[in-house]
Amino acid sequence: MSARAKILAIPVLMAVLLVPGASGQQPELDTEGHPWWQHAVFYEIYPRSFADSNNDGIGDLNGITSKLDYLKNLGADAIWITPCFPSPQVDFGYDVSDYEAIDPMYGTMADFDKLSAESKKRNIRVILDFVVNHTSDQHKWFLDSKSSRSSEHRDWYIWRDGKGPGQPPNNWLSTFGLPAWKYDPTTKQYYYHYFYPEQPDLNWRDPAVEKAMFDTTRFWYRRGVSGFRLDAVDTLFEDPALKDNPVIPGKDKFGRPNMDEKYNKKLPEVHTALKGLRKVADEYNAVLIGETWTSDVSQLKEYYGNHNDELQLPMDLLLNGLPFSAGTYRKHVAAMDSAGGWPVYVITNHDITRSYTRYADGKHNDEISKLMAAFYLTLRGTAIMYYGEELGMENNDPKSRDEVQDPVGKLSWPKDKGRDGERTPMQWTDGKNAGFTEGKPWLPVPASAKTHNVATEEKDPNSILSVYKTVLAMRHTEPALIEGDYVSLNNNDPNVYSYLRRYKNEAFLVVLNVSNEKQTAEFDFAPQGFAAGKTKPALASGASAADGHTVTLEPFGFYIEKLTK
Ligand code: NOJ
Ligand code: CA
Repeated sequence: MSARAKILAIPVLMAVLLVPGASGQQPELDTEGHPWWQHAVFYEIYPRSFADSNNDGIGDLNGITSKLDYLKNLGADAIWITPCFPSPQVDFGYDVSDYEAIDPMYGTMADFDKLSAESKKRNIRVILDFVVNHTSDQHKWFLDSKSSRSSEHRDWYIWRDGKGPGQPPNNWLSTFGLPAWKYDPTTKQYYYHYFYPEQPDLNWRDPAVEKAMFDTTRFWYRRGVSGFRLDAVDTLFEDPALKDNPVIPGKDKFGRPNMDEKYNKKLPEVHTALKGLRKVADEYNAVLIGETWTSDVSQLKEYYGNHNDELQLPMDLLLNGLPFSAGTYRKHVAAMDSAGGWPVYVITNHDITRSYTRYADGKHNDEISKLMAAFYLTLRGTAIMYYGEELGMENNDPKSRDEVQDPVGKLSWPKDKGRDGERTPMQWTDGKNAGFTEGKPWLPVPASAKTHNVATEEKDPNSILSVYKTVLAMRHTEPALIEGDYVSLNNNDPNVYSYLRRYKNEAFLVVLNVSNEKQTAEFDFAPQGFAAGKTKPALASGASAADGHTVTLEPFGFYIEKLTK
């Protein structure tokens, strides 16, 4: 083991401040008035890929239940399960055909109740994924809607006449590579779908749709769910006049002209719908997380609502697209931290390349992965992890078009290989199929599962998993990491990004070498009120401190220490 990879793990002070409310009751606020979800770590589970209990090659709810101790031990406070409802699986669950049941592929409602009860015992909350923009074309609402122009559910979707024979109502495009309108010969009209044709958009302007969707959330809240991750909120409303979107220069990944999606995205009415969903959530003390793709922090801020009456946790998905550098991270976190809303940091999910692969330089891949954990899990805000991120799971993209399962990948091959690569089975062991299934896994595991898996990494105090566990444990027990403010240090350093989290007489110093060269950073804590304080190393990887004020870091090393006045 090289000195660079050495990790120093120092036991941390146990000072539990958060006392979550008894299951199903009002969550208590901590000493600073924060509800549980502001300090929680959410763990995203793609159920097809997490753990397969019946060896059919597809993960399931009982598989998740069997791994709750692992999640508890890791430091997850809540699990977000991506859609596990009945679905034809055209978009692997994001095409829901019944919002109030469990797909038999994943188990039964009794299995869900068991998962929920077992989670509760461990004080882990369950968050479900609510696909608000569209249903499956096999949902009974849509089947009725398409049956005749005068059907009860006709207006629940967006039906229009074409401009002329063979001509759709306007120029809008589906984000999945096709036109956004599909002609239906039964009623001789087109219906609108922002995603696949098998995912018709709901018409949120119809009060009956709104009511049905609100009632769905009630159904699950009453079953003990603590909140929802809301899918695709940007596309809930369309311009009723169906104006053409302006065409802008360039082509998209499917080779189509680029468009400014002015008339079918981020319409102001979205905020009205979110306020309504929030009102219902508040009746149950539930939390709403948003899949919020925005172009900057000020746009993200709008999703909290002017009176904090929309999403409690709109995800910062901007971070994923930023260049990996000390300067950009410093600037971005400053913007997030001062925006006025509670930040929600995410570094990967089931739609984007895994963080391990995204930041890998081929030489320091594991170090970078540890550095990312030391970074986003020590910021002021909520963190959302993606399964396997804690192991350094990498993307395993399909090698040929025939192997692709995700329809997006088929349509955009070879430019874009789709999303299969980031959805491969969780790596539990170095054995067959990484211990995910005894059957044939629905997606293949990469060769790196031999080294990057739970069983192997649990035995190694220097593994990525060990870093995650230690950082998460600190995050749950250290008042400064729970409550502390955020102060950026050494703002002109182009390579080393450093900050303090300060709370009362304590602070945590986080020093991150975001470069592939050795670096030294000097600190003066006087302006922050910690001039003559005591310093105590807490966790380091490829880094050491001479006197607490001079830190030497190997490429992509990090150093965390505790300061006490
Ligand atoms: C966002 C989801 O995360 C993605 O997986 C899905 O394909 C689209 N929304 C459509 O529901
Ligand atoms: Ca299964």
